[in-house]
Amino acid sequence: MINSIKTIKIKSIVDECSDIKSFSFEIPKNNKDMSIEPKPGQFIMVWVPGVDEVPMSISDCNDMGDWSFMVKSVGECTNALFNLKVGDFIGIRGPYGTFFSLPSKNIEKAFLVGGGTGIAPLNYLAKVLTQHEIKTVIIEGAKVVDNLIINDNINKEISEIIYCTDDGSYGQKGFASETFENVINEESNERLKKIEVYTCGPEKMMYKVFQICEQKKIQFQASLERMMRCGCGLCGLCAVDPTGLLVCKDGPVFDSKTLREMEDFGKYKRDMTGKKISL
Ligand SMILES: Cc1cc2nc3c(=O)[nH]c(=O)nc-3n(C[C@H](O)[C@H](O)[C@H](O)COP(=O)(O)OP(=O)(O)OC[C@H]3O[C@@H](n4cnc5c(N)ncnc54)[C@H](O)[C@@H]3O)c2cc1C
Ligand code: FES
Repeated sequence: MINSIKTIKIKSIVDECSDIKSFSFEIPKNNKDMSIEPKPGQFIMVWVPGVDEVPMSISDCNDMGDWSFMVKSVGECTNALFNLKVGDFIGIRGPYGTFFSLPSKNIEKAFLVGGGTGIAPLNYLAKVLTQHEIKTVIIEGAKVVDNLIINDNINKEISEIIYCTDDGSYGQKGFASETFENVINEESNERLKKIEVYTCGPEKMMYKVFQICEQKKIQFQASLERMMRCGCGLCGLCAVDPTGLLVCKDGPVFDSKTLREMEDFGKYKRDMTGKKISL
């Protein structure tokens, strides 16, 4: 699906933590492309006029149909987004890409492991899993407490959040992947068959979680980030080795079977010129 850019007005901006902001906007009425509810894991291309266009995961779609995304300021376009105010206009295309599949009937518990802006699609996924009454454990990691997004909106009867920081300034001390390993080691072999793991965040973290899931034969889905230009399967910039799968069209969410075939998963990305960059 290739959509044209829609101009939208920013409805709200929330400081989620020291370096991440959430932006929400109303979908223009009678917009055919955007009339379908986006699914957790899908992304939009966000255009800041006069600056650039960048991919952003959808972090929520609320009861009023407003969509949200979370931004970490890392360069020119995300800095420009950080400087915008409520009422400013930006352009949106999408939603694009694959999405997290909901667990099959035999699954009793979902583990969501994320860090940084990787928590954006996982937040939305957690909300949908809760609506389906699927028990959910979210493991959220950050370097220090100031970088953690504290989520007070979860349904505590169904969901649980375990926070961890690299320096131990909040929650458990250590990486999200280590906390995940500790938690999963407490599950019996029989229960491991009834678990599905979803992850998004720094690729080294996702790769570690993938290795644990491979070893323990746990069902697994990850959302990858690659450099994108078109976001919709035209330019080839986001192709992964050696399969040629496009992260924008065949992903960003991939299951274990596809990830096993990827040479670059957990090892390298490519820059805008196609040059390999080690992770
Ligand atoms: C499917 C997908 C979903 C994403 N979701 C989010 C999100 O929810 N929130 C968020 O803050 N960021 C998200 N990103 C990353 C975001 O797109 C980049 O941070 C952004 O493009 C950087 O643009 P810039 O001009 O600010 O920085 P630049 O100056 O262009 O680059 C700064 C750094 O960001 C990396 N980067 C640049 N462009 C991209 C790109 N198109 N894709 C991936 N990395 C890039 C570069 O390697 C560089 O290290 C997502 C990326 C993808 C592919
Ligand atoms: S970004 Fe152009 S093909 Fe994926």
